[in-house]
Formats: sequence, structure tokens, C-alpha cells
Amino acid sequence: MERREIREVLEKGNPGEAVTVAGWIKSIRQSKTVAFLHLNDGSTFDSIQILLGEGLANREAILKQITGAALKVTGKLVASPAQGQKVELEPSSIEVLGECDATSPVQKAGTSFEFLRSVAHMRPRTNTFGAVFRVRAELSYAVHQFFRDRGFVMCHSPILTTSDCEGAGAMFQVTTLDLDKPPRGAGGKIDFEKDFFGEKTALTVSGQLEAEILALSLGKVYTFGPTFRAENSTTPRHAAEFWMIEPEIAFADLRDDMRLAEAFVKHMIEHAFKHCARDLQFFDERIEKGLRQKMEAVAKAEFAVIPYTEAVEILRKSGKDFQYKVEWGSDLQTEHERYLTEEYAKRPVFVIDYPLSIKPFYMYCNDDGKTVACMDLLVPRVGELIGGSQREHRLDRLETRLKAQGLDVEHYRWYCDLRRYGTVPHAGFGLGFERMLMYCTGMENIRDVSLCPRVPGNAKF
Ligand code: 4AD
Ligand code: MG
Repeated sequence: MERREIREVLEKGNPGEAVTVAGWIKSIRQSKTVAFLHLNDGSTFDSIQILLGEGLANREAILKQITGAALKVTGKLVASPAQGQKVELEPSSIEVLGECDATSPVQKAGTSFEFLRSVAHMRPRTNTFGAVFRVRAELSYAVHQFFRDRGFVMCHSPILTTSDCEGAGAMFQVTTLDLDKPPRGAGGKIDFEKDFFGEKTALTVSGQLEAEILALSLGKVYTFGPTFRAENSTTPRHAAEFWMIEPEIAFADLRDDMRLAEAFVKHMIEHAFKHCARDLQFFDERIEKGLRQKMEAVAKAEFAVIPYTEAVEILRKSGKDFQYKVEWGSDLQTEHERYLTEEYAKRPVFVIDYPLSIKPFYMYCNDDGKTVACMDLLVPRVGELIGGSQREHRLDRLETRLKAQGLDVEHYRWYCDLRRYGTVPHAGFGLGFERMLMYCTGMENIRDVSLCPRVPGNAKF
């Protein structure tokens, strides 16, 4: 008999039907009168209840199995007296596919997330991580759906690049040179002309610059790919490898960009409600109380907009004893961001028009000569979810900014060409996918929404 998925059986199965399912034991119990187990195959949060009747030939052998063992079960569906499930399964045969022994690190319920990080290869077997990765897959689909429905063209930005988009010097270098004996040129400096690509190359920190190439010919594009940052940051919000969604729109300014960002975030939340209802119920009950209500409010709220200069005033007048002092010209710290969105606006807030001096070269310079047309979307609990801007499309200004930041104009000639030949106002943003997942699930650490988190000191498997 062909195996059916437990999700499908629980949703559509009727008493009397013969079925085969397979999965891993979630729990197994025996009392004086009954014995049953719960089997889960990952297709849904819920497990199917399987009665271990006296008639089962290998009943004793099955009762010796423990959480984590893999079984294949054939039997008949019967109406379930238990609440919340229509059917349960009375087996005629159970085959043990793979035994599990008591040393399995995910044997006990209630193990800490911190411990589970040390056994990241086993944690998807737990309820929490099963739910996280189902939501992750569903939201990934929602990304493509959102942009496709709006006529965007998907673009695969390169992973290997010679351009530092954010200019923060946090790139992972990629080389095939012999690190013990690198070729040296004038002054003893390493000669990267002899390297694989003939120049210094790294993993991309953002697909934006290359997405601009396509936006300035196809109009509306987006990338959704992995990005890498070698920041030595161990906060719960930073990873060295994360996925980013970066739309880029031509004939658009900062307002258009913000409208798109707001619609995108709301779409993701609505999609999660519609397609991850069971998993969200779990996150709401067990991870963050009231999560669903908060998300619903966000989907309905109009996001606030606060210019950076005003934000500095608000923070100064807040009466809060911040660890970092707020001064015009300094970047906002997490504590400031969280105050603005959680306590001041009490909803997602776009902080716009940051000082030019703390932002990358590609942002459009405002008429005041001091600020750039950019936005950070701050959301409760997570902080910065999106960073974006209108792009500097005026060639002379762009060249001035490149020079001011000590970058080689010749190296960015291709980027300047996009302005040299038929330049148009355009804008875009980047949304950190893992941060969106933290926002939607209530998970508090970025390490707990990635399959194999890459953070300083850890690149296991
Ligand atoms: O603000 P960022 O650095 O902006 C850019 O990279 C632009 N090039 C995007 C664009 O305009 N196309 O990063 C964008 C978002 C942040 O708001 C944050 O959500 C996420 O990427 N992010 C990180 N997520 C996890 N770990 C890190 N180390 C991250 N750094 C940024
Ligand atoms: Mg940013």
C-alpha cells in the first residue's frame, strides 16, 4: 500500500479507510488498559495517534521503542474519541524502520534552545524546529509569489564578487592562492593578479549593485539569495550567512520604496496566517504569548514614518537611560531602535533620511546636503528588519561620494555607466529573511531560524 502523509490523513482521512503512514515516534505511552503512540512525519505539526491493541503481533517489541524511532504503520482509520482529531489509527502491522536509543540528544521535551544549537542536526526533530522550518519554506514561497504577482523579474545576483556594496569592509575573501606561499609583487604585497579571478574577490554582502543593472533595463526586479558578512558580531540578530530579499525599482523614489516595503511585510504576515495556521498557533501558545494578535495588528496598521533628525529628538526627550548616548550624526543602536518602535510608535516605523556620513556611497543625497534618502524599517522585538534607499542616480554626485569614501571610481565604472547612459531615479531595499522569520515566529535568536547557523566560531557541517 502506498504511504500517505500524516497531514493529508488527518485532514482528509475517514473512518474505515485502510492506510499506511511512516514517521518518527513523538511519544509512546502504556497504561494498565491502553497503549498508544504518536507518530509524526514532518508534513504537519500534529501527530497521528496509533493504538497498540492486544492483537498486534509484535506489540511487545513496539512497546520497547522510544521517542525518535522510525516506524512504518499499516492499519485502519477509526473515529477518534480524543479532542482535536477526527481519526486515529488501528494498526494491523508495524515495521520498525530505524530504532532510536536513549542517547539521542533530543529525547527529552523542554531541552533548551542553547543546548539544541549544539546538536543542530537533530533539532528539526523537535516540535519547535519542525515548525520553524515549515514556516521558513512557506514564507520563502510567499516572497516569490508577492513579486511575481506584481510583475517583478527575479534576478540571480552573483555570490562571488569584487564589489563591496555596503563598504563596511566585512567581506569573506575567496582565494585559491596558496596561503603558505602566496605570490608577492612590488613591496612584498600579495599579488592578486595571480589569484583565480585575477583580482581580490569575496562573497557578496548584498545583491543590490548587480540587481540595479537589471532594474535599469527591466524596470522591476528582485533578488533572493544568500549574503555573507564577516562582522565579528555575536548578537541574537546577526549571522555571518543570511538570506536577503532585495527588490530594485526604476522610476521610483523613497516613498515608492517604502510603500513597496510595507506591502511586502504585510503580505508575508498574511501568508503566514493563511498557510501556517497550525504552526503559528504553536508559536503563539508556547514561544511568544499573543504573537498572532500582534501580527494581526501589524497587518492592519499603517507603519509610522519618522525622520532621523526627529528620532534623535524623541530619544533625547524620552527620559530613558540609554547605554549609548544619542547624538545627531551617530548611528542608532538596537536600544534606540527598539524604543522607537516598541514604546514610542508601538508599531513598525520607518526611520528615514539618516546622516550621509554614516551611510554607503550609493544612497541619494538629499537637498540639505547632509542627509540621504534612505529608510530603515524597525519592528518590535527584532529591531531593524529592512534597510533601503533611493539610489544616487546623478553621475557627478555618485563619483563624488565614491571618492569621499576612498573607493576607486574606475573599479565602480560599470556601476557609474548605469548613470552615464540613460540614468533614472530608482530605489530598493533589503529585507533580512531570518529576521522576518524571527518576527513571525517569536523566536528570539537568529541561530534558531537557520538550519546550520553561521556565526563567529561556528560553521559546523
Ligand atoms: O541594511 P543592510 O546592510 O542593507 C543592504 O545590504 C542594502 N544593500 C539593501 C538594499 O538596499 N538592497 O541589510 C539589509 C537587511 C537588514 O535590514 C537586516 O534585516 C538584514 O539585511 N541583515 C542581517 N541579517 C542577519 N545578520 C546580519 N549580519 C545582517 N546584516 C543585515
Ligand atoms: Mg542596515
